[in-house]
Amino acid sequence: MITEKKSPYRLVTDEQLAALRAREDALFQKRTTKSKRTFNRAQEMLLNGVPMPWMGDWGTSHPIFVSEAKGNRVTDIDGNQYVDFCLGDTGAMFGHSPEATIKAVSKQVRRGITTMMPTEDALRIGQELGRRFGLPLWQVAMTATEANRYVIRICRTLTGRPKVLSMNESYHGSLDETLPHIGPDGRLELRSNYDMNPGLPKDALSRVVEFNDLEALERELAHKDCACVLAEPVMTNCGMVLPAPRYHEKLRELCTKYGAYLVLDETHTFSNGYGGYTKAYGLEPDFITLGKSIAGGIPVAVYGFTKEVAERINASFGRKGVSDPMGIGGTLSANTFAIAAMRATLTKVATEEAFEKMFAGQKRLSDGLDAILQKYNIPWSVTRSGARCELQFIPTLPKNGSEAKNHFDWDLMYYTHLFLANRGLLITPFHNMMLIPPVATEADIDILIWGWDDCLAEIAGLGGGN
Ligand SMILES: Cc1ncc(COP(=O)(O)O)c(C=O)c1O
Repeated sequence: MITEKKSPYRLVTDEQLAALRAREDALFQKRTTKSKRTFNRAQEMLLNGVPMPWMGDWGTSHPIFVSEAKGNRVTDIDGNQYVDFCLGDTGAMFGHSPEATIKAVSKQVRRGITTMMPTEDALRIGQELGRRFGLPLWQVAMTATEANRYVIRICRTLTGRPKVLSMNESYHGSLDETLPHIGPDGRLELRSNYDMNPGLPKDALSRVVEFNDLEALERELAHKDCACVLAEPVMTNCGMVLPAPRYHEKLRELCTKYGAYLVLDETHTFSNGYGGYTKAYGLEPDFITLGKSIAGGIPVAVYGFTKEVAERINASFGRKGVSDPMGIGGTLSANTFAIAAMRATLTKVATEEAFEKMFAGQKRLSDGLDAILQKYNIPWSVTRSGARCELQFIPTLPKNGSEAKNHFDWDLMYYTHLFLANRGLLITPFHNMMLIPPVATEADIDILIWGWDDCLAEIAGLGGGN
């Protein structure tokens, strides 16, 4: 179990929590015997028994091996069924295997998977992305990490500047530039579990400030060595942090004033509307990056930019039409089948109507969670944003990444996740994010509310609320 931090608002003693955990572990072992056997076998050929490290990070004593995922239901190899509010950490935001995406992919797979030549579908997605997000020109990458990496490279090329400014405790993929965080002495450091490049000076590539801190932002940008600011419109990877009123307006102004490009990473905040947070709140970034859910979970990401950026890219290299002026691209990126999946997902699944259903579901869930906190007098809070919400062990909404992270409590959090999993409910590991897909019914949402009610009634009963 991870025991790095403990919330001052935990409500139960370590001993009480350990006893609850032991009870739930025993139940989990009983429910998932086949997953456990499979995990034990997998240790012989996969590092730590999983094909990708995050799959082993759900806080359960062994991973749950999946046999099927469809809509908002996941079935494991023991035959347990779960109502899914994690949705592959947003990759399956519109539900697992949406019919329209399956149909388009099945058709395209028979007509060629990858040719390194464009299909006509590419025009349709370019047009659709432009209509939604308000930026006119687009390129396709394979993952959101890769889209961010390419955009950083473009920004460096166009500005001749080395650094990237990001927000403390943010996550934009496994980029060296955005992994450093502000340490206790105010200097940049990598969290020890990410420190794979110990020889790399942390401040050579990065500047980091707290979200919502405009004074620090201006101070750091005034060095005029940042090629870009890379930020999520709402922070969604350290718990959740909302922007203060007028924060985005000022962020835009300061980027322009100090000559840094503004890059908004909408990979998660796409859940705020069919044109992401950018469209919903009328933001004006130079670049948008976006991955995970746009092709229904098929690996595709995109980045969009202004006409001015496009002209500067071509002018910088003197020859319009040079396909790869900056070491950008990938053999399999924008392959025919990924583009077909994106076209079908954007035009038939991620519709305005789907988002309306997702928002209504989020409201139902957040209202339900707030009511539980009130009923048991528990001093935690629920942050709401578009189709996602986050339960945080802090009485007021956090203003920045540090505040959010300081109230993390891995033991408590993973106990609640295990409790819910034993009752057929999945929420996002690493924090308490719950995402509502359009296919979730009111009854599905109520089941999650009841699950939390049972879990928190017990915790409040032991700790006596506040
Ligand atoms: C905001 C944000 N950007 C980028 C990424 C990277 O996405 P991927 O792992 O699909 O490359 C993530 C991953 O969680 C993310 O949360």
